[in-house]
Amino acid sequence: MKTRLVKADSAAVNEAASLLREGQVVAFPTETVYGLGADGLNGDAVARIFAVKNRPADNPLILHIASRRDLDALVTRIPPAAEAAMVEFWPGPLTLVMEKTDAVPPIVTAGLPTVAVRMPSHPVARRLIAVAGRPLAAPSANRSGRPSPTRAGDVLDDMDGRIPLILDGGSCAVGVESTVLDVTGPTPRILRPGGVTREMLWRTLGPVDEAPSVMRPLDEGEAAPSPGMRHRHYAPRVPLTIVEGGAPALFLRYDQAETRGKTPVLLCTAQTARDAGSRRCVVMGDRDDADTIAESLFSALRELDRVGADIAFAEAVEPAGVGLAVMNRLLRAAQFRVEGRNTR
Ligand code: TXA
Ligand code: MG
Repeated sequence: MKTRLVKADSAAVNEAASLLREGQVVAFPTETVYGLGADGLNGDAVARIFAVKNRPADNPLILHIASRRDLDALVTRIPPAAEAAMVEFWPGPLTLVMEKTDAVPPIVTAGLPTVAVRMPSHPVARRLIAVAGRPLAAPSANRSGRPSPTRAGDVLDDMDGRIPLILDGGSCAVGVESTVLDVTGPTPRILRPGGVTREMLWRTLGPVDEAPSVMRPLDEGEAAPSPGMRHRHYAPRVPLTIVEGGAPALFLRYDQAETRGKTPVLLCTAQTARDAGSRRCVVMGDRDDADTIAESLFSALRELDRVGADIAFAEAVEPAGVGLAVMNRLLRAAQFRVEGRNTR
């Protein structure tokens, strides 16, 4: 199959919507990351998403809607916390998990009785959903296990030959995926931290829980609250370790690796890169502005594989605000390898 990458003007959006109505899979920009969309009410179309992504069948998808009215057909009940969250954060990077209706094919939810729904704010995503006239099931448009794509070219790297069309809407402003919030229980629970921060949720909803797997690996045999957490994620090909203790600790690890005959690279903030001398760096944003780190994180993870290094060390980020989502992704990219400031 030939994959075309086209600027997301209105003709391209209309063409993408026709392909979606025919049951095809199309990539499109959202404010978080690029999505790989299909008609969310057509089980055969949704099955194509799993095939082109190589996604495990037990990892459910998010349904994307363009208007609040689209929600009624998908969920049996809208809990008060969901109502409040939608008023405050939709459209935007917040996904709500609610009880599903029979209109949602079981393949979308991997057989779960709940469905994840979000209303993106990106104008191309909104227009595409509206013109297609149905909710779009859409995971991130990477091949399973790879960093999520935040630029159309990254989608092409992963999807060339697998889908007919990629809508190019430039780079994604948020850069990490939506926050997944389960609102089916008495207390809302964050299953995946993302663009809408824990602090923002607390301000609007009061106490909010957090799945333990947000910042640590699941234990052997432990049930995953969000099935996506079970799977290997975001990993660059070069082995990555997070190093705590700031620039001095990073530089030490780098120099030790070089002494051992390795070709290291640092994944670090602009401030650290400025002091790094001749050490090779891939920059991920500004240390004092977590939003800029989130925005560039996934493209930086992809860049790590292009610089010809055989070992990589990442700077730890303060897990506050969107920094929590950054560390959640970075920990998975490093397969939870973290070195403290005094360890060797
Ligand atoms: O920002 C985003 O959310 C992007 C853009 C494209 O919208 N989409 C995205 O989708 O990140 P994906 O498939 O890569 O991640 C969906 C996450 C997974 O961790 C999945 O396990 C979880 O949502 N999820 C989906 N349905 C669920 C459900 N019913 N219960 C619990 N978790 C669910
Ligand atoms: Mg994903």
